[in-house]
Amino acid sequence: MSAFQTLAWGDQALVLLDQTRLPGETVYLECREVEEVARAIEELVVRGAPAIGVAAAYGVVLGALEALDWEPAPFRRHLQEARARLARTRPTAVNLFWALARMEEVIAAGAGLDNRQLCDRLLARAQALRAEDEAVCRRLGQQGAALLRDGFKVLTHCNAGGLATAGYGTALGVIYAAQEEGKRLRVFADETRPLLQGSRLTAWELRQRGVEVTVICDNMAGAVMRQAPIDCVIVGADRIAANGDVANKIGTYGVAVLARAHQIPFYVAAPVSTLDLSLASGAEIPIEERRPEEVSRGFGRATAPEGVGIYNPAFDVTPAELVTAIISEKGLARPPFAAALRGWGEGHRPG
Ligand code: MRU
Repeated sequence: MSAFQTLAWGDQALVLLDQTRLPGETVYLECREVEEVARAIEELVVRGAPAIGVAAAYGVVLGALEALDWEPAPFRRHLQEARARLARTRPTAVNLFWALARMEEVIAAGAGLDNRQLCDRLLARAQALRAEDEAVCRRLGQQGAALLRDGFKVLTHCNAGGLATAGYGTALGVIYAAQEEGKRLRVFADETRPLLQGSRLTAWELRQRGVEVTVICDNMAGAVMRQAPIDCVIVGADRIAANGDVANKIGTYGVAVLARAHQIPFYVAAPVSTLDLSLASGAEIPIEERRPEEVSRGFGRATAPEGVGIYNPAFDVTPAELVTAIISEKGLARPPFAAALRGWGEGHRPG
């Protein structure tokens, strides 16, 4: 299906497609230590909510391999330290904590196992999480594809595709599923400052999949909605609160406001593992702030004068009232979201 693999397990290592090098170079990075996985997540070698979760799960496996020959008590302490280190990497995407909680279940259930047996079970769980993510994205894509008609112009922000998941994508998964149904679509990809996930990653993977794509700067979205005109917006999510407020890449909120002003449907595509029903609203979602240099020294050259104040939140929160529908593997939820999200969350074990 894809000419690339976002992440894969091979020969006692987690192999990551280095997304910091795209679109210029397709380079794979091998991680053999927990610390390498943690840094890869922090530096966005691997990014996107579901992909971060799956990478962290493999990180716990590497923690087990690092300490395989140790006595049982220090071995298990090391697993907890590995989990804690991975949990400190990025605060906003709840999928990270959800995946780490799934790994913790294996550790808790494996009290009587020796180190090797527990390590094997952890690897089996990480592999299952990876496979599940891909299957869930495909189901989600099919649910959302019904919203798209042949010839639609779709605007997206950031990258919520195969690069952001174990392989298929959420927002882009909807587009791929519609394409598989024979619909021809045209995608407008916001470049997504400051790190350009839209122009570097979304445009790259849409081209790989033969989807027509046009890159626009973030500040062009309003004009394009008016001129193109855009039929709908589809974005991914990093965390969705119980009332349907959505945290996603910085700039998503602005796109949602513009969509409302132009009466364009604004869809959010996310797996149930992105729900955080423990939070009443988006006001409680922790928002990651990243290094000022990402703004002031964009890709190695000065993009702001030395010494000026810089504010660099990586995500924002779109209030539920601006969201037309949330698409998950379980179907479509429309406002008010609370009851539908609660229904989706039944049986879902939180992070
Ligand atoms: O900082 P990033 O690149 O990890 O941000 C990614 C996003 O905001 C995505 O839209 C979100 O994680 C959904 S990915 C299916």
